[in-house]
Amino acid sequence: MYSNKDKKSLTELSKNLLKGGSSLFPEAPEKQAADLKKVLVFHEHQYYVLNNPLISDFEYDQLFKKLEAIENEHPELVSPDSPTQRVSNDLTESFNTVPHTVPMLSLNNSYNAEDLKDFDESIKKLCLLPEDMELEYVVEPKFDGGSIALIYENDQLVRGATRGNGTQGDEMTANARVIRSVPLKAAFSKHGIQKAEMRGEVVIRKDIFEKMNKERLKNGLEAFANPRNTASGGLRMKDPKEASQRGMVAFLYTIGYAADKDGNDMIPSFKTHEESMNVLGELGFKVPGESHKLCKNIEEAAAFCAEWEAKRESYEYEIDGMVVKVNDIALQEKAGFTSHHPRWAIAYKFKAKQATTKLINVEYQVGKVGAITPVAKLDPVALAGVTISSVSLHNEEFITERDLHLGDTVLVERAGDVIPYIVKGMKDLRDGSEAKIVFPTHCPSCETQLLKLEGEAAWRCPNYDCEAQVIQRLIHHVSKNAMDIDGFGKSIVERFYGLGWLRNVADIYRLDYSKMSELEGFGAKSATNLEAAIDKARKQPISRLLYSLSIHHLGKKVSKLLAAEVDHVLDLAAWKAEKYVDIKDVGPKVAENVIEFFGNEKNIELLKDLESLGVNLSQTEDDRPKALNVDGPFFGKTILFTGKLLLMGRKEAQEKAVAAGAKNLSSVSSNLNILVAGEKAGSKLKKAQALGTVDIYTEEEFLKILEE
Ligand code: IVH
Repeated sequence: MYSNKDKKSLTELSKNLLKGGSSLFPEAPEKQAADLKKVLVFHEHQYYVLNNPLISDFEYDQLFKKLEAIENEHPELVSPDSPTQRVSNDLTESFNTVPHTVPMLSLNNSYNAEDLKDFDESIKKLCLLPEDMELEYVVEPKFDGGSIALIYENDQLVRGATRGNGTQGDEMTANARVIRSVPLKAAFSKHGIQKAEMRGEVVIRKDIFEKMNKERLKNGLEAFANPRNTASGGLRMKDPKEASQRGMVAFLYTIGYAADKDGNDMIPSFKTHEESMNVLGELGFKVPGESHKLCKNIEEAAAFCAEWEAKRESYEYEIDGMVVKVNDIALQEKAGFTSHHPRWAIAYKFKAKQATTKLINVEYQVGKVGAITPVAKLDPVALAGVTISSVSLHNEEFITERDLHLGDTVLVERAGDVIPYIVKGMKDLRDGSEAKIVFPTHCPSCETQLLKLEGEAAWRCPNYDCEAQVIQRLIHHVSKNAMDIDGFGKSIVERFYGLGWLRNVADIYRLDYSKMSELEGFGAKSATNLEAAIDKARKQPISRLLYSLSIHHLGKKVSKLLAAEVDHVLDLAAWKAEKYVDIKDVGPKVAENVIEFFGNEKNIELLKDLESLGVNLSQTEDDRPKALNVDGPFFGKTILFTGKLLLMGRKEAQEKAVAAGAKNLSSVSSNLNILVAGEKAGSKLKKAQALGTVDIYTEEEFLKILEE
């Protein structure tokens, strides 16, 4: 939709507008407003549609405020498609029922490769095609949110509606307008389309949902149950202002209706589903894009479905399956619809995410800062492809709120992320043999009396030397996100602790490798490997070291922020509260805990001890903040490395690209600008060549551009 040249010039225009450059032309508020509108629409697209913001939220807000100020002074310049006009002040009393231009149907379901094969055969039968012919399919995620139908007339968004019963839904234009990935204006007329109704699913990104919930809890509001209900509920809010707070985006997955000015059907003018999605992307809509695949036959489609089933949890959005669609629009028209579903598409449903089982016992785990976590032991049950035998119950309140008892039948779900949880207990199924869960008053490890800090849900063991806590702190220190000591995991920590070799994290750096090599099942090689891994950890950036110290509330993000501010870790010992709070995103709670940590002489001794053992305590290059390189040769471009790279490692190449202003993508799509093809580049190279819009470089060419 925007060429790289557009991106560059719009980003420059944004910077000029931010600098107040427009005040040079006070006589032309029309021009200023038009420029501001143009850059705001561009940045909305970069942020919400492409997930690739090119300016900070703060800068965006500044530009927005500038436009608001001009529009306040010159109300005649306000147009309905202005970014300032997304959120209306008007409350909806009751939603109007409106008919859909053509019915919004459901999908037929399939559950395995066999079902998909049957589907493929049925299409060929319907379309009178030879049995052995290979049909092309587009496979895309089945987004799990709220369905939406958007009508554009003369390039303007004129109506939004929910699916309702499929024939008619609730009109909710005001809420559709607050979804910032939905363009208020789109150039359908370029394609001869005067009126179009598009279908899509409104969803909320899982990380944004989590953040929103944290914020709600902080403000004393109840947490939302899951992204799906929050999105579909968001479409039905009476106050568009509230709806605008839910971080909703809409993926468009089909054109339900399109007509020219004489009412002629325009859908057949697209040859394929893929092409129609590319056109929607080009018009500024969010489409499955990177997450879809054009498959050359049903076997490839089935393999892609299986691949996504395995990785569904790591995807940014909640999905409950994949949708397999015949790519050829002429074939789609031939296959047609039943009253329930299109015959040319089918949902591939993922395995159930919910199951019921018995809660057998509760065990209590002590965390690295002493928090006591109750863990339910369950009768093992299969859930979305794995067997679940224990789930976290989080804290005492979680148990009392759900009124869980030992022996209860419970409903378990694996949603949003990989961690399963108990949705509810089935009280109706009790037979009287169930027993109340009694939360302990003393630490299960050291028997110290537990206490609860104000504002916290967890009971905590206050004994810093509690054995369970010490072990947890050691495990955390060596873990992937902390010092990342390869080969040093929970079992080794427990074993060395048991041998009396480890009492605090500094002991890790004075392990005796010759003694270690004599351990049963260990050997010289394992000891040497561990020694090398520990040596590597000595040089880790201080952001990792800070994070590895198990300071209450100090996560990876704030560790990085603090590391960027100090030359040496011990500098923090002199920091006062104001200094922490001055850093954006460092809250008073974490500040309090870091101050407490550095106020304790024992901890200072520990850090000095670590330093004397060769552990790095000084800021490294990695700790210093990296600015987005606006002047880099690849600024604003997306890049993908494929094939075997001979001149550099893949990670190194990706880092070089980022340093030059680019963003790495993981697959070929219409969003991709540059493909660097190494040796034996295969399907990705072919696909990029077929797109015709991707610049293809060799490794040498890529490096040459960097040098220049
Ligand atoms: S195609 C006529 N594609 O799934 C076309 N639907 O039962 C029919 N959904 O609630 C739908 N992601 O909103 C299609 N990539 C996708 C989808 C998708 C989610 C939802 C749709 C509806 C349900 C269909």
